[in-house]
Amino acid sequence: MARILTGIQSSGKPHLGNIIGAIQPALRLSAQSNEPSFFFIADLHTLTSSRDAKKNKENTLQIAIAWLACGLDTNKDVFYLQSDVTEVCELAWILSCFTPFPMLANAHSFKDKSENLSMVSAGLFTYPVLMAADILLYDANIVPVGKDQKQHLEMTRDIAAAFNKQLGETFVLPEPFIQKEIMTIPGTDGRKMSKSYNNYINIFDEEKLLKKAVMSIVTDSTPLEQPKNPDTCNVFALYKLLAKPEQTQDLKEKYLEGNFGYGQAKTMLFELILEVFKKERESYDYLIKNQDFVQEELKKGASKAKEVSSKVLKRVRQKLGLRV
Ligand code: ADP
Ligand code: TRP
Repeated sequence: MARILTGIQSSGKPHLGNIIGAIQPALRLSAQSNEPSFFFIADLHTLTSSRDAKKNKENTLQIAIAWLACGLDTNKDVFYLQSDVTEVCELAWILSCFTPFPMLANAHSFKDKSENLSMVSAGLFTYPVLMAADILLYDANIVPVGKDQKQHLEMTRDIAAAFNKQLGETFVLPEPFIQKEIMTIPGTDGRKMSKSYNNYINIFDEEKLLKKAVMSIVTDSTPLEQPKNPDTCNVFALYKLLAKPEQTQDLKEKYLEGNFGYGQAKTMLFELILEVFKKERESYDYLIKNQDFVQEELKKGASKAKEVSSKVLKRVRQKLGLRV
């Protein structure tokens, strides 16, 4: 059986794009496997962009709750904080000794920021090595990620292959799992929904805030009475993602008929979000009031993760002649 593993950085609050684009597909994939999957919060990777203790703690908690509220089953799957399994740092160091400098210099994550080198930390530069360690430490076979992470998976495979070639079979070579049909979820301004653009919808926000975010979706200025084009409308694009086909058809007709304003469409979207994520929102409310439970789950997850990581690390240390 294949072992599934994926991580999400704790660099912000989880939004609708993260949930539809990453959390839900990973959980769906995991539900098809009897083996425990490994899901973690990449809080060490977050340090490459944020060193604010309070913010990092809060975001980590929010991401943890989002996974649990979306149905992660800690009885089956292993759910943990990257920083709780410190073996990952040791493996990252070892792997860095098998990583050619030009490979890292070619990484998009570094290149995008390399115009201003004084702003690039060694942590950002070696980000892909830590990610390789995240994956190789657990003998993961399948890694569901967004297409922006494809290069990181290729680098993981190259690093693992270099080690295996020099020292004999040690690491499992992971396969990325990139779902093409998962589209980029648009944000309130029509660009990709992203923490960095501040254009996101947080489905766990209290109703008033959630409504405010939905009402802020940018639309054109077609007057109320005129027919509207659903295919160019951000409200419709989000509605379509969550609605049943007959609900989508119904909204489409309303757009085409005219005498239907964007405000009404936004209200329908807001109500649909409340309906579709009812269970998740209830679960979130429970977990936010029971944070000790969340912390306990993460601790239990870390000790399960360590059972695997310590064995893999021992295998690696043996190959290198380090004391085991
Ligand atoms: P952000 O752009 O908000 O910083 P991240 O880069 O941390 O989001 O993404 C975490 C995960 O969520 C990744 O797997 C990514 O592919 C997915 N994701 C983020 N935004 C979207 C979106 N707008 N549509 C679909 N998937 C998304
Ligand atoms: N770099 C990934 C992202 O930004 C997060 C991540 C860290 C990850 N380690 C991982 C994803 C290991 C999959 C496997 O989305």
